[in-house]
Formats: sequence, C-alpha cells, structure tokens
Amino acid sequence: MKRYKIAVIPGDGTGPEVIREGLKVLNAACDFEKISCDYEMFDYGGERYLKTGVVLTDEELNGLGKFDAIYLGAVGHPGVKPGILEKGLLLKMRFDLGQYINLRPVKLYPGVDCPLKGKGPADIDFVVVRENNEGFYCGEGCFENKGTKDEVAIQISRNTRKGVERCIRYAFELTRKRNKRKKLTLCGKTNVLTYAFDLWERTFYEVAKEYPDITTDYAHVDATCMWMVKNPDWFDVIVTDNMFGDIITDLGAMIQGGMGIAAGGNINPKGVSMFEPIGGSAPKYTGKNVINPLAAISAGGMMMEFLGEEKAGDRIEKAVMSVTANRLKSLAAGKMGYSTSEVGDLVVEALKK
Ligand code: IPM
Ligand code: MN
Repeated sequence: MKRYKIAVIPGDGTGPEVIREGLKVLNAACDFEKISCDYEMFDYGGERYLKTGVVLTDEELNGLGKFDAIYLGAVGHPGVKPGILEKGLLLKMRFDLGQYINLRPVKLYPGVDCPLKGKGPADIDFVVVRENNEGFYCGEGCFENKGTKDEVAIQISRNTRKGVERCIRYAFELTRKRNKRKKLTLCGKTNVLTYAFDLWERTFYEVAKEYPDITTDYAHVDATCMWMVKNPDWFDVIVTDNMFGDIITDLGAMIQGGMGIAAGGNINPKGVSMFEPIGGSAPKYTGKNVINPLAAISAGGMMMEFLGEEKAGDRIEKAVMSVTANRLKSLAAGKMGYSTSEVGDLVVEALKK
C-alpha cells in the first residue's frame, strides 16, 4: 500500500473548516483506492503569529520540505497587518520550496450558476499556468524622497530567462498532456512592458518550435480579460507572469462559479508542492459552518493527482461534479442549502457511488 506524508496547514479564518472537509473526502478517496496518507498538522498562521510573533522559521520551512505534499487552508487574519502572513508564510513557501508554477484550473461544473449569459460547462474549461516565483512578487523596489511631495515609489518586476523558460515549458507540456484544444495562449503586455514581455515573448516562440503539435496564441492581459468573459471557449491553457496570473485567476474563479469552487496548486515538479483553495480566509464566515468547502476538496483532489494518484483525484473531481449538478442550490457561503460539513458528507456519499 502506498503511503504519503502530507503536511496540513489549516491556517486562518475558515481555513480549518474547509480543510476538515477536505481531509474527510481525502480519507474516503484513499480508502477506496487503497492509499494511505499520514497527516501532520501545523498551526502556522495568524493566531500563532499573534501569540508568538513567529510566522514561519527557516527550520519549520525545511521541515515542510520533507513531506510529499502540503495541504493549505487559508492565510490572512484581521488582527495582522496585511502583508506579514502573505509574505512570511504563503510567499515564503512558494518561493523557498521552489514552487515555480501556480496552476489554476478554470472549469465550470454542471449545475453551477455562471454569471456569463448563455455559457455552460462546454464553454469554460481551461487552465491558467501562472509563474509563481518572480515578477512583481520578487519584492524589489525602493522609495525616493519618502513622505515628501517629490516621493517616488519604484516596484520592480524581475523576470529571469531561466524562470520564464521553465514556466513556459511546463505550460507547453501541460497543453500536450491535456490533449484538448492543444492551444497555448501567452498572456502579456508586450505593447507597454517592453522589457519583461519581450523576454516572455521571445522565449515563448523559441520553445514553441519544439512543440509543433501545439497551436500558439498571444493576447494582451486586458484583452485576455475581455475574451475570458466574451469567448472563454477560446482558451485551453494560458501562461502568464505572476501578477497578471494573480489577477486573471480571480476573474477565472468568478466565471467558474466563485471562490467557493476555485482550487489551485503551487507546483515544484521535482519537489514539494502545495495545494490550496484560492479564496482567502473569509473572516466574516469563520466558525459558522456555512463556507463552501468544495474548493478545498478539489485542491485535495489536485494533490492526489500530483502525487501520481490520478484515480483518487479523478474520483474526487467526479464526486464534486455530481454534488454541484444534483445537490447544491448555490456555491455561495450560507446559500448552498447545506452546511459546510454536510457538503463534505455529500461529496463522500457521491464518491462511494
Ligand atoms: C493568491 C493570493 C496571494 C497572491 C496573496 C494572498 C499574497 O491572492 O494566491 O492569488 O497574490 O498570490
Ligand atoms: Mn490572488
């Protein structure tokens, strides 16, 4: 029997509630497929920071690097100044564990209300490959004359050839593996960001020569937003930098039914990857058992797939799809027609069929 060691970080706000349901579903899927997971729980997050002043030490980070995968709930606490937990915990894991891909599927499941008029599951099924280690997220920059009338704030987007190339290669490989429309779209802003996206564009078309079976396309980020709303069926895989990827995947989450369903993976193809629902800690719903756990459950499914347990991952996705198709009234917190834990139970029930 295969055994995996999973580090679980429920985190802040509604994180623990959705992770609880995610683990419930993972356990059921693992039983079915004869897989065993050892979970180790970590209390990293806002509460611990407020008590101890520690976000994540290097030692703790090294510890996380010894697991097969990390399962994360949410990061963000109303009592902690924005940026501290994000930089010290989430981005630190993404960067220092070399999770250079942020993979965000945008898929409209059956039965889910789509805000786009006339669009259904056949129209919305693509994946965003977001670069996850560079760009504006490198945190480089400075102030000049801070606090004066002549203040200047400079924020740098760092793009390395190696970083861009490995991301683009990953996206080409994924497009091939998906074997759907076989189309990869580079999303950039070559008309204004003439250094960063010049590098991206050159690299994209160079690597493309090795993938003659893949159709390439380019769209500026503003136009990408427009097409995502108007013609989402044009997309198969989109590759883009960290900042644009952050923005367009929130739009992606909305067209697939909302934050309650959107899952993502922070992937280090040769190391430890981390899986999370892409929504935040939702402080106003905390502890009420009303938040939608499907995003966290789907993130668990992605984690199985990346561990090489495609059957378990598939089983979880199909179960989630059957719950959206047949049971839930809405995906919105408090409006599902069921509580958080009941939704977890429904997925487990569907999974056994
Ligand atoms: C996300 C989040 C993070 C990001 C924040 C919390 C730092 O918005 O995962 O998309 O910007 O990457
Ligand atoms: Mn985001």
